[in-house]
Amino acid sequence: MKRLCCGILLTVLFLSGCSSLKVLDPKGTVAELQLNLFQISIAIMLFVFFVVFSMFVYFTWKYRETPDRRHVKPSYVKGNRKLEFTWTVIPILLLVILAVPTVKGTFSLAESDETSENPLTIEVTGHQYWWEVHYPDQGITLTNEAYIPVDRPVEFQLKSADVIHSFWMPRLGGKKDLIPGKTNTLTLNASEEGVYKGQCAELCGASHSYMRFQVHAVGKQEFSQWVDQQSEVKASENLDPTAEKGKKLFISKCLTCHAVSPSERSEGPNLAGFADNERIGNVLSNTDENVEKWIKDSSSFKPDVNMPPFPDLTEEDLNALSTYLSQLE
Ligand code: CUA
Repeated sequence: MKRLCCGILLTVLFLSGCSSLKVLDPKGTVAELQLNLFQISIAIMLFVFFVVFSMFVYFTWKYRETPDRRHVKPSYVKGNRKLEFTWTVIPILLLVILAVPTVKGTFSLAESDETSENPLTIEVTGHQYWWEVHYPDQGITLTNEAYIPVDRPVEFQLKSADVIHSFWMPRLGGKKDLIPGKTNTLTLNASEEGVYKGQCAELCGASHSYMRFQVHAVGKQEFSQWVDQQSEVKASENLDPTAEKGKKLFISKCLTCHAVSPSERSEGPNLAGFADNERIGNVLSNTDENVEKWIKDSSSFKPDVNMPPFPDLTEEDLNALSTYLSQLE
């Protein structure tokens, strides 16, 4: 019993560790429909479970071996039409109750992908191990985060640059794979403002668990303001000498892979707004010291990343680079 209690407690602790993803708290029409389907199937399963287990317990007790029944042989029932009929019809009924809303819901979700009006298009490309978020109509590119207006359908066009990833944002619904050489679409909408967390849901390599992202759902007006602001975001011009040195180093060493403005696209993560990120590559907390360690050898913190190590950079170089990056707001 003690062991069982410990097991349950540990499970609860583990599951509460995932609370930031909040699977059962939908904030969009797609997620709400999915939760309804989920609840119907859980209700049916619980019903079956309780009926079967109550009968199991009852019959086990009723026909248990007692001294006066030790030598009783139960009668052998065969070909009883009523019984056969009952236990065939009940499961069929349950399956129908389960199948009708599921098939209806699945088709309506697939249709909403094609018929939603005036959707905002966002291209999401999965990379080992980060998300490239590109707004083709607005010319904006972000890394590991997206901004969307509430109450407007958003069509995510899902692509992959390398292996199969899976785009999953439980509170807005969905989960769809990103497959190399193919574009999948997923149309979702947020019904409430807020920050919604997401996670890659397909084991895609050693740093799969670091493939997190967040979606900021904001009011419509706030969203158009945000779009306007993005064209003004540029790496600041008035830099102190250390940051200026960092900028030069960045241009010679890093700019081949990284961009520093949301209006540019790059092969590696776009570092625009880097200073506002809580974490570096979703791993280390964003301090100057950690940025330096990261540049020197990122793969020791995030296994299997594509960014090469830079063992030749001096302390002074690293300091200049981290100073420059800390000014990318
Ligand atoms: Cu990408 Cu897991």
